[in-house]
Amino acid sequence: MSDHNNVHLIDHPLVQHKLSLMRRKDASTNSFRRLLNEMAMLMTYEVTRDMPMQDIEVETPLEITTCKVIDGKKLVFVSILRAGNGILDGMLSVVPGARVGHIGLYRDPKTLTAVEYYFKMPKEMHERDVIVVDPMLATGNSAIAAVDRLKECRPKSIKFVCLLTCPEGIAALHTAHPDVPIYTAAIDRELNSHGYILPGLGDAGDRIFGTQ
Ligand code: URA
Repeated sequence: MSDHNNVHLIDHPLVQHKLSLMRRKDASTNSFRRLLNEMAMLMTYEVTRDMPMQDIEVETPLEITTCKVIDGKKLVFVSILRAGNGILDGMLSVVPGARVGHIGLYRDPKTLTAVEYYFKMPKEMHERDVIVVDPMLATGNSAIAAVDRLKECRPKSIKFVCLLTCPEGIAALHTAHPDVPIYTAAIDRELNSHGYILPGLGDAGDRIFGTQ
């Protein structure tokens, strides 16, 4: 936990090292994407730490034993398009059976509010735990809009995972959705007037897809 309520700061040295390399403005698209993939895998390990388990019987070559497997319906990773997709591959390589939902939101450049253009979720959401992913929790507008919309599907639980956030983003998401824990690798200093995190890493979508 960090000093902020309900925020899990993933301060593992491997995660911090990779994040620092991603911040460098001269990191290539290739290395940015690879590092993001590696970070996503490592962060998933922490984010799924409290997944419920059940006992099953397994026959080893030597005897029958009771051991643990993950319980319940498959998790749902929900990507906020488009930057959220950059995190998905890494998460799916650790939880290959997870289902995937997508929410398309764009940020109105004048008002910085989120406008929805796409929403597709797996079936039986009310029986599933949801992990929403977006690399940057900045103004919080997209995260709040995504969680507002997801709550209409009544999932069992919702967590929010990002690489980077700032005090403004945390405050906004927690004011709107105090029940949603935030998992992040860093809490940066502030948001600038254009809605970018400082010092940050720039536009995550552009850096993942090489569109800058
Ligand atoms: N989105 C980004 O990609 N970067 C920021 O700094 C803020 C929002």
